[in-house]
Amino acid sequence: MNTGSPAKYANIIPLKELDTVQKQLYPFDFYREARTQTPVRYNEHRSAWDLFLYADVHRVLKDPAAFSSRRGMEMRTENLLVMDPPRHTQMRDLVNKAFTPKAIGALEEHIRRVTADLLDEAAGRGSMEMVHDLAAPLPVIIIAELLGVPTQDRKLFKEWSDVLVKGVDENTEAAFAKMHAERGQAAKELSLYFSGILKERLTQPQDDLISALLAAEIDGKKLSEEEVISFAILLLVAGNETTTNLITNGVRRLTEDPALQTLLQEQPELVPGFVEEVLRFYPPILAVGRVAAQDVEIGGQTIRTGDQVISWVASANRDERKFDDADAFRPDRKPNPHLAFGFGPHFCLGAPLARLEAKVAAEELLRRFRDLRLADGAELVPIPSPFVFGVKSYPVTFRT
Ligand code: HEM
Repeated sequence: MNTGSPAKYANIIPLKELDTVQKQLYPFDFYREARTQTPVRYNEHRSAWDLFLYADVHRVLKDPAAFSSRRGMEMRTENLLVMDPPRHTQMRDLVNKAFTPKAIGALEEHIRRVTADLLDEAAGRGSMEMVHDLAAPLPVIIIAELLGVPTQDRKLFKEWSDVLVKGVDENTEAAFAKMHAERGQAAKELSLYFSGILKERLTQPQDDLISALLAAEIDGKKLSEEEVISFAILLLVAGNETTTNLITNGVRRLTEDPALQTLLQEQPELVPGFVEEVLRFYPPILAVGRVAAQDVEIGGQTIRTGDQVISWVASANRDERKFDDADAFRPDRKPNPHLAFGFGPHFCLGAPLARLEAKVAAEELLRRFRDLRLADGAELVPIPSPFVFGVKSYPVTFRT
């Protein structure tokens, strides 16, 4: 049935099949059913195509000429995520250097110290709330430092960035209008905040990303203030909730499987493989959106120019056509070509940073704590966004 939901909301309306908390906490049975029964389907409810197979998702993501990122619905300002080549390539080149595995690797000791400080605070209590005590603050502190903004303002960033990625709780016009108003307000406040920082950096450049962006040129032309601000906002927003959920989803997996905790404690060299498998198994981002820039046939269906296409990476990651024993969690899986960070020209810029933070967080947790468990009676509440996989809080107990 067509509910009349405007097409512009296609990528923020939840899949109606995932209508209970239980299914949101574990949507993978639904994806399996979709891969078998409707791997490519036009979803009237959301006025968009849903793609569930690895091969189809991969094909869409690697071909920006056929599937454009210029959807311009989620954020008002221009940023990398909603640009196509060649401008996309030029803008991305400006920051690539700061995010290579080598450049990010140099931060490891610092990330470990910040993680240790956060865990020390919790250790004495014998219990902790993973999201609040570790998974949320760690990425915010590190990205704030990289950008060159005061870490003591991190509560403010977190509030703004949470609003910018929040979806709607119900599929009504009023809920969408409220969400847009709140996002607009948060974006305005963030812009104003960054505008102040930019003024300071223009007169006194520092060794940070904002100063680097202010100095950068494309074809002999500097970026506008608006472009620098929008870049800074993207880095802040794209990296925070995603990494928080990666860390928390990893802890969720560890508490679901005590033998995995012992294995990783005995063989810490498996932790990077564990992080990759968490990305495949419980990916923080469930799907990414594109718009067809030409008529394309996929799975016997014709997708027309201008149609919205939602690529379900969380389903692709469990596709039994691509992964042996796809529903088994294997920290030693090799290769592990999951699509949790996307693929192709928009492949996640922050992947090396997210991987490093998650690795250090898992190593430090496993080194200090034994017998991590979800606290008795804890009720898990999914993040209210159809494209985010995570929970609002994850209280745990442990032995030291
Ligand atoms: C792009 C996921 C962490 C910055 C993407 C995309 C995905 C993704 C799926 C591709 C979107 C598309 O194709 O439309 C994740 C996940 C993360 C994470 C799962 C954590 C586990 C980060 C971090 C940062 C970051 C820490 C920055 C510090 C970006 C940026 C883009 C991006 C700037 C746009 C790249 C482009 O369009 O060229 N991310 N991300 N992400 N991510 Fe991440």
